[in-house]
Amino acid sequence: MWGGRFAGGPAAVMRAINASIAVDKRLWREDIAASRAHAAMLGAQGILSGEDAAAIGRGLAKVADEIGAGKLVEDPALEDIHMHVEHRLTELIGPAAGRLHTARSRNDQVATDFKLWVRGAIDEALAGIDALEDVLLVRADEHADTVMPGFTHLQSGQPVTLGHHLLAYREMLVRDKSRFADARKRMNECPLGSAALAGTGFPVDRTATARALGFERPNANSIDAVSDRDFAIDYLHAAALTALHLSRLAEEIVLWASQPFGFVRLPDAWSTGSSIMPNKRNPDAAELVRGHSARIVGDLVALLILLKGLPLAYAKDLQDDKPPLFDAHDLLGLSLAAMAGMIADLDFVPERMRAAAAAGHATATDLADWLARVADVPFREAHNIAGRAVVAAEQAGKPLDGLSLAQLQAIDGRITKHALSCLSVEASVASRTSAGGTAPARVREAIAAARAARSDR
Ligand code: ARG
Repeated sequence: MWGGRFAGGPAAVMRAINASIAVDKRLWREDIAASRAHAAMLGAQGILSGEDAAAIGRGLAKVADEIGAGKLVEDPALEDIHMHVEHRLTELIGPAAGRLHTARSRNDQVATDFKLWVRGAIDEALAGIDALEDVLLVRADEHADTVMPGFTHLQSGQPVTLGHHLLAYREMLVRDKSRFADARKRMNECPLGSAALAGTGFPVDRTATARALGFERPNANSIDAVSDRDFAIDYLHAAALTALHLSRLAEEIVLWASQPFGFVRLPDAWSTGSSIMPNKRNPDAAELVRGHSARIVGDLVALLILLKGLPLAYAKDLQDDKPPLFDAHDLLGLSLAAMAGMIADLDFVPERMRAAAAAGHATATDLADWLARVADVPFREAHNIAGRAVVAAEQAGKPLDGLSLAQLQAIDGRITKHALSCLSVEASVASRTSAGGTAPARVREAIAAARAARSDR
């Protein structure tokens, strides 16, 4: 299709390094949609005759049917999906097909196709995140009162509710959705009509093609339009951060499912066995979500480095923009689905969580708070008194709330029997009623607000 000025054909390795069809065939729907919009516009503008434009439109519909039915014949000599579609169109409708490439280049074509694809990938990511968010809300609601240890430094810090802990992930996902939505809004400008890089002398209607393809408007600058891949980087950044959030949650599932924690039992559907150790139930799906996040972050880095140092406008390096996107999309889709499935099916073990929350004297802060609030002790001094109470509990081999009033009063006379009632893990979580706090009442409010926000969308 570009052989006019060449006498010899490409070397076999040249052909091999140049061909992208094995990868970019995934863009066939977008390629045909963009070509149909382009052909219709050429017809409407009188750049092509009505008959030619109509024949091209019908022919492209036929090509779409064929490829949809799995009948794409891959030929590395035809390089990429754009040439494959045009080649098949030529076989189907003859010389009129040669007019489709009027006023365009593969440079604006591929930028348009890829943008359409990324836009679809964003919509899929948003739906996948919504589904996981819904599952988190269901499980958080079930466990609004379930007490578990809250950790800092992976040391028991203060008791929290499982519902509250799960809702922390929901907040991450909400930010992820806003990043995807933001990327979608920013990217929605159509490159078509930018041609190779300089625009075209044909009287094209760029607004018409932009509208036909669901874009807000045409790109303002033809050089930028064919060389910009910011939209793909925006997608990968949002995907990488989402994957990172899933990885943190996956890591918690791996920990919680381990015998020393025992906070969850992994159902059969989400476990694998060991070929040597008959006792094993391994959390492979969670581990793979954790592992996949590394690849998605790598995809982002690959594209950042691909673009760094590229002079304007198009260069063939840009053909390598697709593998990282396709890889990240596939891995993110699987990861979101696996997390939603796993979280929905996890058997939480509240007794283990409660026992762990009660260990480690996790209500020491509550004793200090009580001294500061009720007995008007400066907090620094209250902290010291509660610290001595922890030592006394350790020496007595008891939890903090197992000390008698006499034992506590021996440490500080201002401690009264009312202080005892705030030392249980249930009293501790119930007291954390500040906005955004872990008290079951606040968790229920947060769930109601989250559900209202979901149904608003
Ligand atoms: N297969 C190419 C890509 O993905 C299409 C654009 C080719 N443009 C060119 N000037 N060779 O980037």
